[in-house]
Amino acid sequence: MLWLKAFHIFFVVSWFAGLFYLPRIFVNHAMAEEAAVKERLKLMERKLYKFVTPIGALAVITGLWLWFGYGFSGGWLHAKTTFVAGLVAYHLYCGHLVKVFAEDRNTRSHVWFRFFNEVPVLVLLAVVILVVVKPF
Ligand code: HEM
Repeated sequence: MLWLKAFHIFFVVSWFAGLFYLPRIFVNHAMAEEAAVKERLKLMERKLYKFVTPIGALAVITGLWLWFGYGFSGGWLHAKTTFVAGLVAYHLYCGHLVKVFAEDRNTRSHVWFRFFNEVPVLVLLAVVILVVVKPF
């Protein structure tokens, strides 16, 4: 089980690297004016999203494997999984935004994306407290 948990944490950390970086690129893209800069950011967004999506899937798969394979239970796990479901929705919405930017259809400001960028930070804090402290 410890090997599985080690890989779970590895995939989680790698997933968050993408969830922290991709919205930051959106902030820069929303401020960009030069066409060459916009094309460069589109390429970065597409590559990063393509790279981090299977990693996110492996974070969830190893988590579910831990849950159902080793009989974990408790309110903390239900609360955690609810937060993770929100995180998956956030991830998929980022995928939608990658398409919106690729078609030069973005209408949101860089300020909006700065707040959007903070969502995974708050989810990470909540999930780590739930899984380590198991408060309920
Ligand atoms: C559906 C998705 C997920 C499920 C079902 C799940 C389930 C679990 C389970 C059962 C454990 C073992 C807990 C223990 O050994 O006490 C675990 C460990 C852990 N999970 Fe997840 N997890 C999921 C996604 C995530 C995500 C997205 C994060 C990060 C935000 C995360 C962070 C952690 C951490 C840090 C540990 C190690 C805790 C420790 O060793 O005390 N997990 N997870």
